[in-house]
Amino acid sequence: MVTLSIVDTALSLTINKDQNLLEQCLAATLPVTRSCRNGNCGRCDSKLLQGQVRLRNGNLLQSPATVPLCIAYAIEDLQISDIPLSQLPSHWRCQRQSPQQLLLPAGRQTPPLQGDICAILFVNGVEVNEIAHVAGRSIALTNPSAITAENSVVSLITIDRDHSGQFTLWREHQNHRQLLWANINQTTALSAQAAYQQSSGVGKYIVSNDA
Ligand code: FES
Repeated sequence: MVTLSIVDTALSLTINKDQNLLEQCLAATLPVTRSCRNGNCGRCDSKLLQGQVRLRNGNLLQSPATVPLCIAYAIEDLQISDIPLSQLPSHWRCQRQSPQQLLLPAGRQTPPLQGDICAILFVNGVEVNEIAHVAGRSIALTNPSAITAENSVVSLITIDRDHSGQFTLWREHQNHRQLLWANINQTTALSAQAAYQQSSGVGKYIVSNDA
């Protein structure tokens, strides 16, 4: 066991060397921003002030350095700072350009990041995808999406790759309850619920706990 000191929160955690730093921060209920969990999106990047870590690919990283917590393993006592703490994912309204291409509205909203895992919220359900590339207002998706010209404006939220759980999101309209997304965790369910509520004037969105 070694010690992880987080300067911003004045927290000192006893951690092991076999689990990545992101998982161990989350286990300590630190809501670290994350999405891809493979070192691509940069959401969990923190500053390594002291110590050395081993990355998932076996490379060593010595302080001072920027470290993606999701692919870093402690090999000695560590001190980090600038840990990104937030649980609220962003929500974008996008226009479909093609099955793999979305366009963000003009404005100053910060776009999602390449490597982010995202959920596309349709009227009748949800599709999980990944951001392959962002150029200006244009977003390329890794996988062809089921968005068609009929639902050409969709909502997009960034989510954690590990978003499974015991919650379900429903849409209720005219006494009819329709399943939108099942087997997700509470954070994901609440994020999707908020995004649906912001972007749709029709119906009510309900999260149930199926535990
Ligand atoms: S880089 Fe760590 S979650 Fe994406």
